[in-house]
Amino acid sequence: MATLVTGGAGYIGSHTAVALHESGREVVLLDNFSNSCAEAVDAIRALTTSGMAFVKADLRDRDALDSVFDSHEITEVIHFAAFKAVGESVEKPLDYYDNNLGSTIGLARAMVDHGVESLVFSSSCTVYGQPDVIPVTESAPTGAESPYGWTKYMSEQILRDACAALPLNTILLRYFNPVGAHESGTIGEDPNGIPNNLVPFVMQVAVGRLEKLRVFGSDYNTPDGTAIRDYIHVVDLAEGHVAALEALAGGLSGCNAVNLGTGVGSTVLEVVAAASDAVGHHIPSEIVDRRAGDIEKIWADPAHATEMLGWTSSRDIHDMMRDHWNWQRSNPNGYKS
Ligand code: NAD
Ligand code: UFG
Repeated sequence: MATLVTGGAGYIGSHTAVALHESGREVVLLDNFSNSCAEAVDAIRALTTSGMAFVKADLRDRDALDSVFDSHEITEVIHFAAFKAVGESVEKPLDYYDNNLGSTIGLARAMVDHGVESLVFSSSCTVYGQPDVIPVTESAPTGAESPYGWTKYMSEQILRDACAALPLNTILLRYFNPVGAHESGTIGEDPNGIPNNLVPFVMQVAVGRLEKLRVFGSDYNTPDGTAIRDYIHVVDLAEGHVAALEALAGGLSGCNAVNLGTGVGSTVLEVVAAASDAVGHHIPSEIVDRRAGDIEKIWADPAHATEMLGWTSSRDIHDMMRDHWNWQRSNPNGYKS
């Protein structure tokens, strides 16, 4: 019996592969390296077992997918594989719809054809936009503001319809803002080019690859004027996936949306201060205009995850910054260093 992890060489997939191995599962990783590399698979194997199966394939390739299901006894699937850059999705909408929806539909079809019923899907708190009520619960209204966001919204709907009609049970995990790295510092986030996201940018400033952080907006209605997010340690997130598979194995049926967040919001300036503490020196920054499309504040109500999955986060913003810095400092140029 094995767990198929699509996008398994990526940031969240690699940490989840380690958590799955630690839970005693056999893991089959699948990735096309469109946003990752073979070195990540080597690093996962070094932390787990040199025998962890890896298949280099595009998830939209049905023959390749059939061969994975035929050659391994897959009983459950975690589906991470997707393009994820909001700005790029506005420039290349068809690439995003093709990859993210094509992958999800192809995978769900292959699962049904091969009799595999348990699926955990990577969704995002981006489906909430700016919620009226914070902390946000799973029953809040959903929508999207970018092609990327629409691919998550539409994938959720596709899976909801598929679960209603077919022998398929799904948990839609709505992640808040994953940061941090495995405590070993040997796997972590390795963005291509200049990072879009706050913590990878801050850490590249800290390591000297970038000159200074631009803080997007200081006139929000928050205690220090900068925007608030719910940052979650990627290892807590990985453990949430194991808990989700266990809930499905325990008989949870249908299609269930679950927030994976900490319930704690941090401003941009609070993150920068925690990063400076972890790094041990000041991180240069300047305040600039708001970034188009950003919301003011969001954090999760994680109660449903605790009730449904028995999961709760255990690492705080200082743990996140310590571990992200440990990865960045050990690998200043990511996996290619
Ligand atoms: P990532 O880019 O590091 O990992 C995704 C992996 O999928 C990459 O290794 C990429 O090569 C692979 N991939 C993409 N398309 C593929 C295809 N057609 N076939 C095979 N492999 C393919 O991203 P991540 O941060 O690990 O995110 C994982 C998932 O979580 C994504 O679905 C993303 O949208 C979602 N998510 C991420 C965040 C975040 O901030 N990181 C937040 C919310 C949701
Ligand atoms: N920020 C800066 N400077 C930067 C980068 C970010 O001030 O250089 C600010 C942003 O304006 C925002 C906060 O830091 O206020 C967090 O920004 P991120 O880009 O790290 O994260 P977002 O909340 O904008 O979005 C991310 C992913 C989305 C995902 C969402 C929820 O990019 O794909 O988290 O998981 F949907």
